[in-house]
Amino acid sequence: MIPAVLPTYDRAPLTFERGEGSWLVAEDGRRYLDLGAGIAVNALGHANPDLTQALTDQARKVWHLSNLYRIPEQERLAALLVDRTFADTVFFTNSGTEAAELAVKMARKFWHDAGHPDRTRILTFEGAFHGRSSAAIAAAGSEKMTKGFGPLLPGFTQLKWGDHEALEKAIGEPDVGAVMIEPIQGEGGIRPLPDVCLKGLRDLCDETGALLILDEVQCGMGRTGRLFAHEWAGVAPDIMMVAKGIGGGFPLGAVLATERAASGMTVGTHGSTYGGNPLACAVGARVMEIVADDAFLSEVRRKGALFRQGLEGLVASHPDVFEGVRGAGLMLGLKCKVAPAEVVQAGYAQGLLTVGAADNVVRLLPALNIPDEDIAEALRRLDAAASSLTPA
Ligand SMILES: Cc1ncc(COP(=O)(O)O)c(C=O)c1O
Repeated sequence: MIPAVLPTYDRAPLTFERGEGSWLVAEDGRRYLDLGAGIAVNALGHANPDLTQALTDQARKVWHLSNLYRIPEQERLAALLVDRTFADTVFFTNSGTEAAELAVKMARKFWHDAGHPDRTRILTFEGAFHGRSSAAIAAAGSEKMTKGFGPLLPGFTQLKWGDHEALEKAIGEPDVGAVMIEPIQGEGGIRPLPDVCLKGLRDLCDETGALLILDEVQCGMGRTGRLFAHEWAGVAPDIMMVAKGIGGGFPLGAVLATERAASGMTVGTHGSTYGGNPLACAVGARVMEIVADDAFLSEVRRKGALFRQGLEGLVASHPDVFEGVRGAGLMLGLKCKVAPAEVVQAGYAQGLLTVGAADNVVRLLPALNIPDEDIAEALRRLDAAASSLTPA
């Protein structure tokens, strides 16, 4: 019999009752060190007092209005984002997938209104993950995500990650309107796009006119030690998708864009009942105030370097289990020699939560404010987990 909850997830048999910072407490009282943070969502840890305050203060005032009216919390968060990024304008969504939907619509509408309605093709990359809507699965294109869900939304071409020649050839095609890419692939296995490649991609987009859409849903909001990952390369996109960390655990996403790229999105062209609601935006504004601070970001870089150094040692002491470390800041991946699911499972036995990814990688995405002693404890538990997988 089908369960009451549609069985689309392969869930671990763990039930958590509450969280405190980087820790989750299970029903049986057992404490787990959380290196998953709800897959890069709980950017400031569980039950963060600042965020709880922002949420409850707002909850006492008004929960939901409608985009029929001005929403001051939304305007405030948009101003914070515009002030701190390349963007001139922001649309708020409830998730990364919805941000992907709008990014696709925005790029196509831009070319439509610019008198090139044929420039509808969007170049994407193998291993990408942009969400589970019809547009997002067509964008990623993998069989795993698309099989059985056709007919797929047309107009996407997936290129091989790192195949510069294929990119140069494809981007020259007259129907290409945009390129959509994650600066660091998350679900694809913490695969960073080297800064030089992102710069090169920006140049190619400038030469051909294609809009550059960056998906920073997982790698953005301080995760890499810069507010947004593309800042490392010193280039800016035309459109950017954000979600996950921006709400610190409250559902919130956004599309940021330049005035030019957003120029087709006039009154009536897009909307959302819940997008930009007062509760989400009040929390998001508090997250921005904390994360967009230079001192905070510098701490993320220091913690990331500390964690990475420990992980390099872990790889050296468990050469049968691990192959290497990759990623940036606190978006780290352990490339495994065993199945990543085994490492995740062995972690559970040690009271440690990690997240699997493609390309044989285990993801480590802790809260950005994880204390140094919790990093040390995470390394001890990872070491014990790896030892349990190594034949004595
Ligand atoms: C890079 C990226 N884009 C888009 C999404 C989709 O976001 P959501 O699950 O909030 O719809 C995800 C989710 O994992 C993601 O990692």
